[in-house]
Amino acid sequence: VASAGTVTTGAIDPLNDLADFCEQEGLWLHIDGAFGGLGAADPQVAHLYKGIERADSVVLDPHKWLATAVGCSCLLVRQGDLLVDTYKLVPSYLAFQTGKGFAGDKWYSHRSAEQTRPTNRALMCLWNIQQAGSEGIIAHIRRHLDLANSLRLLIETTPGLELIAGGPLPVVCFRATPEALRGSELNRFNQTLVERLQTEGVAFLGGVDVYRGNKKRPKARRTRASVTGYPIEKHENEEAVYCLRYCNLHYAVTEKDVQTIVREVERVAELCLAEQAFAH
Ligand SMILES: Cc1ncc(COP(=O)(O)O)c(C=O)c1O
Repeated sequence: VASAGTVTTGAIDPLNDLADFCEQEGLWLHIDGAFGGLGAADPQVAHLYKGIERADSVVLDPHKWLATAVGCSCLLVRQGDLLVDTYKLVPSYLAFQTGKGFAGDKWYSHRSAEQTRPTNRALMCLWNIQQAGSEGIIAHIRRHLDLANSLRLLIETTPGLELIAGGPLPVVCFRATPEALRGSELNRFNQTLVERLQTEGVAFLGGVDVYRGNKKRPKARRTRASVTGYPIEKHENEEAVYCLRYCNLHYAVTEKDVQTIVREVERVAELCLAEQAFAH
C-alpha cells in the first residue's frame, strides 16, 4: 500500500518507484489517496503523483477533498472483474446472467461488501463534479494548497512557533516553542495546548506525533513509544515531536481563518504558560 497523502503530514510516496517495484515483484499496488489523491488534478502538483496511473487500485474520498457530505468513498480498481469474483453472492434470487433480465450487466451488490446502499452518495459526488467542472475542482484544490502555504509562511515568521512538517498538500504540522521549555517538556506543553485549543472552541486543530531525525541520538536505540501512547515503532535515530496539526479541506475556509488560527494558538499558548498547565 502506497500513500498519495499521508494523514500525519500529507507526504506522498514515490509512486512511480513503487509501481516499478510492484511490477518487478508481481505485487498488487494499492494507493491510498483517500485524503490527498485528488491533488493529482492540479497541474501545479500533478508531477508528485507520477505513477498513480499504474496502480491496481486507488481509493479516493470525495467526502474529503471534493466537498461531498460524509459517507462518500470511492475505490477505483483496474480489473473490475476481480471485485465481482470477490463479492458476488449467488443465491438464486440474485443470480442473474450478465446482460439478461433485470440485472443488466452492472449489479453493484456484486462489487462491494454492501448489498444495499444509498444512491445519494453517488449523486452528491456527481452533482459536485457537474457543478464545479474540472476547472472548479482544480481551483478548489489550489485554494487549499495556497491557504496551507500562507499558514506555513505565517508560522515561519511568527516568533514562538516552529514549522515541523507538511506541504505541499494542505497539512501543516507545527508547535509552540516557549523559550524556557525543551524536549519532552515541549511535547507535554503542546499536548496541553491542543487540548485547550479544542475546548476553547475558536480553532480546532488536531495533535500528532511527527518523527524526525535527531543526529545527537545514539543509533542503537530502538523502542516502541509515542507521545500519545499509541504504540508506534520508533526508528533508530528518530525523535517524536508532538505537533499541532492543521488539515482543512472545507470549501468555505478563508485566509482570515488561517490568520485566526495562528492568533488563537498564540493566545492559548500564553494562557497555558501562565497557568503552568503543562507542569504536571
Ligand atoms: C490517507 C487516509 N486514508 C484513509 C482514511 C480513512 O478514510 P475514511 O474515514 O473515509 O474511512 C483517511 C482519513 O482521514 C486518510 O486521511
